[in-house]
Amino acid sequence: MSINTKKTFVLAQGFPNHKVRRFQDGFLFGTSTAAYQVEGAWNEDGKGESFWDYRFHVLINQTHPPGDVACNSYHYYKRDVEMLRELGVDVYRFSISWPRILPGGFRTIKNEAGLQYYDNLIDELLKYNIQPMVTMYHFDTPMALQHLGGWSNPSFVDWFVDYARVLFDRYASKVKYWTTLNQPDTTCEINNKANYVLKNATGATDYLCTKHVLLAHARTYRMYEKKYKKKYGGSVGMSTAVNWVEPFTNSSEDVEAAERYKEFTYGIFFDPIWSKNGDFPKLVKDRVAKKSKEQGLVRSRLPSLSKEEIKLIKGSSDFLGLNHYTTYLITPSEIKHKVPSFIDDANFNKKRTRDEWTKSHSSWLSMTPEGLYKVCLLLNKRYDYPPILITENGWSTDTGLQDPSRSKYIQHYLNSLLLAIEEGTKVIGYIHWSLMDNVQWMEGTSERFGLYEVDFDSPERTRTARESSLVYKRIIQKRIIEEGWKPEK
Ligand code: NOJ
Repeated sequence: MSINTKKTFVLAQGFPNHKVRRFQDGFLFGTSTAAYQVEGAWNEDGKGESFWDYRFHVLINQTHPPGDVACNSYHYYKRDVEMLRELGVDVYRFSISWPRILPGGFRTIKNEAGLQYYDNLIDELLKYNIQPMVTMYHFDTPMALQHLGGWSNPSFVDWFVDYARVLFDRYASKVKYWTTLNQPDTTCEINNKANYVLKNATGATDYLCTKHVLLAHARTYRMYEKKYKKKYGGSVGMSTAVNWVEPFTNSSEDVEAAERYKEFTYGIFFDPIWSKNGDFPKLVKDRVAKKSKEQGLVRSRLPSLSKEEIKLIKGSSDFLGLNHYTTYLITPSEIKHKVPSFIDDANFNKKRTRDEWTKSHSSWLSMTPEGLYKVCLLLNKRYDYPPILITENGWSTDTGLQDPSRSKYIQHYLNSLLLAIEEGTKVIGYIHWSLMDNVQWMEGTSERFGLYEVDFDSPERTRTARESSLVYKRIIQKRIIEEGWKPEK
């Protein structure tokens, strides 16, 4: 899975040439958020507990975790839509909280107030011609289902499809863009952390989760295809995290570790959907089988996919949702991990960065715009030019309204995307993470990803436009990038 880009490509130091490139008509610009990160109202109006509520309240024992109120979007969603209008976006990607709609996880009890909340949000968006894009699942498993093993339980596939049907029945007439899940690799990692019930099952639950995610996604896709698509004509995909990776050095150890990273973190989700033959990547199948055998197991810890399952999953997406942020430099892992475990199987370490790379406020995120170009070319080569939607891309800073580094990040990554389009990449749109500062999971509110700053000390969580929001707005208006453009003071 290696590509050779002949272009001399030093985006980080300036634009490669001054040809004006334009985003095609119909290209969608948007911004993104997720329910737990913005909604708050964690126990209001009949909402059930999610794994993240439980994690903060019970496992970590925090009295007022930031997600309890978050950006208070449950009460201030109209202000969110106002900001989207200020930006001039075409689409808003938000997620629906499963436990807000089905408090116990199952479809037996529906929470009308929760359903109504999303009706209101969707109607408000449509009123201003902004297309809603729904993520069905962005990490917030209903706690009642997590107690049953979450994504490790094969029945979770049915529970997910039941939930998806509730969403389609209620919203499919208004929502044309759907993603089933956000970042399945993170989903499975979180599921493992949440699996205190199955504590010693790493290296097994990871792969069960992977298989169940693919089945839940594919069955949801097929359900839409069969029952809703003809009537409503929408699209369904999944958002996967794909950062660019390079071996730290040219040594064969580093080169092989980088290959393992690609196959184990995104090949494992993409190949079954997008490759010609379906199924998991050969490297992953061979490696887990070999290790499982050495560990005295009679069968591989990676469950196989049957012929019917391969058929179900293959081709089950209208677009490839890409969450892309940065580049990692890969070496084999330097510490001895637990055996068996996913990381012992995959054996990579992705923490390295180059001194010359501009750093954000998050330890994992550096400014490496050429990575987006390279990722697009790699996916084109491997999956024969799939339609791509950038569902996340963004930059973190500290507090403050002057954020030149975010403006630069947006300009350079979008320029990289234009170059990839010029090389034949089919890109439907670009959705920036994030509309506003929000709860960065375990990092709380210390990492600010917003085009709008949020004052987490004010009860209404006052939002104020950052300078970068004007830069993004200008790109949306003009459909071109003017390097270094700044709003007048
Ligand atoms: C990806 C996740 O989908 C989102 O929830 C998170 O906030 C961003 N990355 C930034 O870390």
